[in-house]
Amino acid sequence: MTEGLTKAAARNIFYGGSLFFFLLFTALTAHSHWYMVNDSTDKEGLTDSVELGKHVWEENMCINCHSIMGEGAYFAPELGNVWERYGGHDNPEGARMALTAWMRAQPTGAEGRRQMPYFDLSDEEMNALIDFLKWTDSIDDQDWPPHPAG
Ligand code: HEC
Repeated sequence: MTEGLTKAAARNIFYGGSLFFFLLFTALTAHSHWYMVNDSTDKEGLTDSVELGKHVWEENMCINCHSIMGEGAYFAPELGNVWERYGGHDNPEGARMALTAWMRAQPTGAEGRRQMPYFDLSDEEMNALIDFLKWTDSIDDQDWPPHPAG
């Protein structure tokens, strides 16, 4: 019996291990993709308006202050569940009106409170933005954020 590893055994472990983990990584990547496409994402609800809303979100850099599904800045509330927070699950029309009114009323100028700037959005942009927030709320993000207040 030889002492320790032979060169050939070390090489086989290296190649075998690399192959094993490469295959594992590929399988996990495929699974994540499959899960995202078929399970966690509301494909039917992904309308042109949601897409426009995402552009409005990006062009106005809302993420510089807000987080969405945990990603972004922590200056202002999480917006991944803002649709739920505004009662959108029970009263979609009310939530849409309240969100529009909220954004149109900024900044409030309330002393000691962080301020949100005014964004000059058309009705179409505002509706699309809210469609985007509503759609984001429908993503199964395993109950993130843990608290409804964000
Ligand atoms: C400069 C920072 C900043 C930017 C940029 C910003 N916000 Fe805000 N936003 C805030 C702050 C601060 C609050 C909380 C203000 C308060 O509670 O009085 C807020 C609150 C909100 C709320 C209400 C959240 C709640 O839970 O009540 C919504 C909706 C919102 N923002 C949407 C947006 C959207 C959409 C954009 C991009 C078009 C945007 N914000 C860009 C700072 C920002």
